[in-house]
This record gives sequence, C-alpha cells and structure tokens, in this order.
Amino acid sequence: MTAKSSCDELALFNGKPLFDLPRSTSSLVQPDFERFLEYSRTFYEAHQFTNNGPLVQLLERRLAEFHQTSHCVTFCSGFWALVLAIKCLALPGRREVVMPSLTYRRMADVAAWAGLVPRFCEVDPHTMALSADTVRPHLSEQTALILGVHPIMNCCDAVGLEALAEESGIPLLIDAVESVYETYAGRKVGSFARAECFSLHASKLLNGFEGGYITTSDAELASRLVRMRGFGFYTPDNVQELGMNAKLNEVHAAMALAGLDALDTQVMRNQERYLAYRQVLAGLPGVRLVEFDESERSGFKNILIELLDDWPLSRAQTLSLLNAEGILARAYYWPALHQKPTDYPTIGGALPVTERLAERFVLLPCGHFVDEQDIHAIVAMLGFLHAHATELRQRLAV
Ligand SMILES: Cc1ncc(COP(=O)(O)O)c(C=O)c1O
Repeated sequence: MTAKSSCDELALFNGKPLFDLPRSTSSLVQPDFERFLEYSRTFYEAHQFTNNGPLVQLLERRLAEFHQTSHCVTFCSGFWALVLAIKCLALPGRREVVMPSLTYRRMADVAAWAGLVPRFCEVDPHTMALSADTVRPHLSEQTALILGVHPIMNCCDAVGLEALAEESGIPLLIDAVESVYETYAGRKVGSFARAECFSLHASKLLNGFEGGYITTSDAELASRLVRMRGFGFYTPDNVQELGMNAKLNEVHAAMALAGLDALDTQVMRNQERYLAYRQVLAGLPGVRLVEFDESERSGFKNILIELLDDWPLSRAQTLSLLNAEGILARAYYWPALHQKPTDYPTIGGALPVTERLAERFVLLPCGHFVDEQDIHAIVAMLGFLHAHATELRQRLAV
C-alpha cells in the first residue's frame, strides 16, 4: 500500500490501486472455523439437514433470548421473512404498505411480492428514518401495514411508531436488519412492534451465509410463520395455509450460531474501527462522520460519512476515484425508492428531505477485514482527493 504523491498515480488514471484486495462496506464476519464445524457435527450426526432441525431450533431459542422476546422464526432470507410477515400482518381488504423511500433498495419489491402497493413516506432529517410524524399523513382506509425500518446508523423512533400503530389500529412491522445489536430507549431491538425482521446474509453482523429471522411476542403469529415457511403444512397430510419453501437449513444455522458466540467480540472490534475512523476523520475538512448514539447499545457496524457543501468533488466523482483504488465506498441508499422505475405500482410524490439526503452520504469500508492501517490509508486518500480537487475536477470533466 503506497500513498499517492500526484494525480497521475491515481488508479482511475491508470496508476496502481491503493489496495490489491478491495476493502468493502460489507461486514463479512468470519466466525471461528472450528466452532462452525463443531456445531455442524450436531446435525451431521443426527442426519437431519433441514426441516426444523436441532440447530435451527437452538438458533431460534438463542435469538429469542438475545432479543428479549418470546419467539424467533428463522427463514432462508430476510427478504422472504419480510414478505411472509407482511402477508400475515396486513389488514385484510386493504392494499397499501407505508414505508420510507430512503431505505434498502429492494424494500418496495417486498411489498409487491406480498401482493400490496408500497406507499413511500418522508424521513426525519436528523435520524434519516421514518417517524410517526412522517407516516401519519399517509394513513388512510387503504393502509394495510406500517413498515418501519431502522436506518443504517442508530434506530428509528420505534416507540413513537408503536404509539401510532396503537392509535390507528394499523399493524407495525419493523425491518431491523441493520440493528441486530442495538437498543432503543433502553429496550432491545427485536422486542418492538408486532414483529421485527433480521437478515443472516454474509454481509450482516450475524453471518449465516444466507438466512433471516422474525422476532415476535405473538405465539399465534410465530406458529403461522412456521407453517408458511414450510409449504403451509399443519400436519404431514394437511395443508391449510398459503405456503412456500422458505426454511433455513442446518448448515446455515451452524454458521449463525458460531457468529452469535463471537458477536460481542465482533462488536468490540467494530467499535475500535469506528473510533479510529472518528479520530482520523476529525482532521478532514468537508466531511462529517455520522456518529453512533452512545447512550444506547450499538453494533458499530457501518461507517457513514456526509459530504458537506464544501466538499470539493461530486459524490459520483468521489466514489469513482475511491472505487478504482479498491476502496469500495458506496452511495448510501441511492437512488431513493420513489425515484426508481418499477414494473409494479407504487405511490410516491415529491419527498424533498429524502431526495436531498439520498445525494449526500457515503458508506466507507468497515468490518472484519478492515484494520487500523487501512482506515488511515482510506482517510488519507480522501484527504488527497480534497487537496487535489481542482486538478481532479478538470481531469474528470474531459
Ligand atoms: C434493510 C434490509 N432489509 C432486508 C434485507 C434483505 O435481507 P436478505 O439479504 O437476507 O434477503 C436487506 C439486505 O441487505 C436489508 O439491508
């Protein structure tokens, strides 16, 4: 890794990339291999590889305990967990799901797969999340469900959303994929709303290769979800529910369990990375690090910066220069969902706060494979771009 001394050395202009092995924004947690094998031995010896096997059951028990709720139901992905939870919770005869537009790029598809129409709402400029105030104007006789989403940093106001759900009689489901470790108002995420949804994808804090889960305190909802993920079977010959195959298998559960054992250590390392970023970014003009709310518990997973008005390059220019160096920084939730064409109906309209925020943020590399030296090199590269912005703008304009 050699620092650049002139713009000619930048990878975008055919110089050697700063990182041979790109540094990414995915957490890419890799739990101890022996631990993973140890868990895997259980299902291998029991000859049960899927269909609610011993490790899936253990994982569900441990996750329910971890999130301080009574039930956890696992799935093959967070995506299908969300679709099935929406199917179960949506008020019958109504067609709209209110959700933020500044969120996970496939969130509208989730509602469409559940046979409903996404209706996009604004976010609060400070939390970058939906709130009771941004959801309320969208509620009507057509609202089947409120889909709250915790943003990539800190949490949405789950307490305010719960109060709105109570007052309006509209069920609240929360996507908590980015908030596995978090608390909100001192309460463990996973214990709010009618249900909350998480992902076990390899890029997440808890890596099960693929997978997802729903937490809920509603025993009836939990057993309905169990039936739906397994083809809708009540008993071996009795199918009563619209079902699908969305089960988590045993090898994925083994990986997630190994990850769960190492979660506290992983979070401690994430916090060290975050503090290192905070320290070095403090000296860089034009950039603001979005800080974790340290009055709550946090997984410190993502590193998000805002490019301020005096940052001298466009975000697209900044990203293409960084990406060429093997710094796989990404635009944060861009484009906003209401600005993307879809082949199913959506309800949008102008969302000025969302549109402004969608242009300003950048996720920086983080997680297991990013060390302190990398962090210094990444921030030094941002410093180089700032210092050479006039020349870079000219070169990128041609
Ligand atoms: C906020 C959010 N919700 C849901 C999902 C879907 O999870 P999965 O990849 O497990 O299907 C993702 C995936 O990145 C996500 O970021």
